Amino acid sequence: MEKYEIKLSVNKVEYEIYINPKTLLVEAIRDFIGLTGTKRGCETVSCGACTVLVDGAAVKGCSVLAMQCIGKEITTSEGLETNGKLAPIQKAFLDEGSYQCGFCTSGMLMATTGLLNETKNPSPDEIKEAIEGNICRCTGYNSIVRAVERVAKGMYKEDSL
Ligand code: FES
Ligand code: FES
Repeated sequence: MEKYEIKLSVNKVEYEIYINPKTLLVEAIRDFIGLTGTKRGCETVSCGACTVLVDGAAVKGCSVLAMQCIGKEITTSEGLETNGKLAPIQKAFLDEGSYQCGFCTSGMLMATTGLLNETKNPSPDEIKEAIEGNICRCTGYNSIVRAVERVAKGMYKEDSL
């Protein structure tokens, strides 16, 4: 299949990659750019492990082609911290122990960040709805909901982390 050189902006860094038009966004991020925080699970849009932000909204990376993301800003879990400081949602996940094996964690962080970008103070039902497309095999859902509630309650100041 013919290949094309494209530019993708990931975590505010522009990458030039050479891909075929069928390359999925998750494949581009992991295999061509080398950011492996984003996980590849089912590849059938069912598990949410590949969730990233595209222009601030949570998107499953196996549901879109890399070429559809040209000109958009993609954020992965590696892009959540700023100058070595964790984002509030990362700190809250640590404080609530919102991970066990960690396989779903990157996708959960991005799905909940997408929610908080839309709604600063989501209700428990809105939080559950935001992560209903993300499967945690370790079933750590309650601690994830509590972590998002902590952030929504303003328990973390960006500069104190
Ligand atoms: S790998 Fe994309 S939803 Fe499972
Ligand atoms: S922490 Fe293991 S899959 Fe969620």
